Amino acid sequence: MYSPFPYDRLPSKDEFFGRAKELEKLEALVDYSNNALIFSKRRMGKSSLIHALFEKYDKKYICLYTDIFDITSKEDFISNLLKALSNHTSKKFELKNAIKKLSQLFKRVRFEPTIDTNTLEYSIKPNIISLGFEEMMEEFFNSLNELSKTSKIILAIDEFQQIAKITDVNLDAILRKYIQNRSNISYIFLGSKRHILTSLFEYKAPLYEMATHMELQALNLEDIFEYSKKYLDISFEMCEYLYLKSDGETKLIQQILHLLYIQKEKTVSKEQINSALKEIISSKDSSYRLLFDTLGNNQKIALKIVGKYKSGIFAQAVLEEFNIKKQTLQSSVEALFKNELIDKNDDRYFIPDRVFELWVERLV
Ligand SMILES: Nc1ncnc2c1ncn2[C@@H]1O[C@H](COP(=O)(O)OP(=O)(O)O)[C@@H](O)[C@H]1O
Ligand SMILES: [Mg+2]
Repeated sequence: MYSPFPYDRLPSKDEFFGRAKELEKLEALVDYSNNALIFSKRRMGKSSLIHALFEKYDKKYICLYTDIFDITSKEDFISNLLKALSNHTSKKFELKNAIKKLSQLFKRVRFEPTIDTNTLEYSIKPNIISLGFEEMMEEFFNSLNELSKTSKIILAIDEFQQIAKITDVNLDAILRKYIQNRSNISYIFLGSKRHILTSLFEYKAPLYEMATHMELQALNLEDIFEYSKKYLDISFEMCEYLYLKSDGETKLIQQILHLLYIQKEKTVSKEQINSALKEIISSKDSSYRLLFDTLGNNQKIALKIVGKYKSGIFAQAVLEEFNIKKQTLQSSVEALFKNELIDKNDDRYFIPDRVFELWVERLV
């Protein structure tokens, strides 16, 4: 069964909508081999955007993508980069030729065929046991330079903030060195943890001014309406209602639209939107309970206060209502903020995971 509203996978070419301005801006950057830093809350559409850009540029440039969300060492980092290159090569050439190409490119890193036990498809993986981290980095970036003599390269590193987790080397400083000595290569860094990411690119940090910053905003309401009315009998008002309820979070918008789509009744009403939302919130109930339970009592109170009030949370009346001292609330809010469970825009606090925010709002 097919639904035109993907919410837990990347959209295909036909399912991807909106983002015309963002794509235009990115195209202008990569066409001149500039670098970009794309950041936003999670689930807004960063990975989907890069995927769409790469679909368009795949024939024109060498497009390399890696997601480093699960790296735990510097070796993981470089092995992800190497894999991005070998995946790309094995998609372009048949296995034997791909290995040949890679061996011509790399002096020391060896590439071996491997079989995916799920799909039974062959691919190529770098043998990373024999070499040290520095050597592999050098080989990788030398090979990029070599390749960039024949074609423009875009290297996208998703969940880039994870490099801050690696503490035995300064990956940002090392990367700066390689990124500086490039031509014909664009680096696109993507990430969601705003505090870590900004600190990586802030004034005096090694990556300062190494990339043009782009904050990915919510999709346009008009674009969502244009796309969804092709598949649903939905009015602009209902679309707007859904948009406001989701607080513009792309994944949640898509998930609600998906639930509306699989219903028999195709005319969308407020009640249907509310019940879809309720279904989504309940489906996450047990995982949110687990998360909530990891918090101390004061942090639980702080989260409830943020859920209920958003602004003016330190007002006397609020402190009295929840029977908490101002200082205690301040340090609990600080702790939640550090863990990125809450975030702040001007004077307004919010919970960046919109479904979690709605779940918390139901507690109070
Ligand atoms: N422009 C878009 N068109 C259609 N669906 C999208 C679009 N952007 C995001 N999505 C949907 O929203 C979900 C979350 O987007 P994703 O790209 O994973 O966000 P991020 O990388 O910012 O966390 C995706 O699984 C995708 O299905
Ligand atoms: Mg992503």
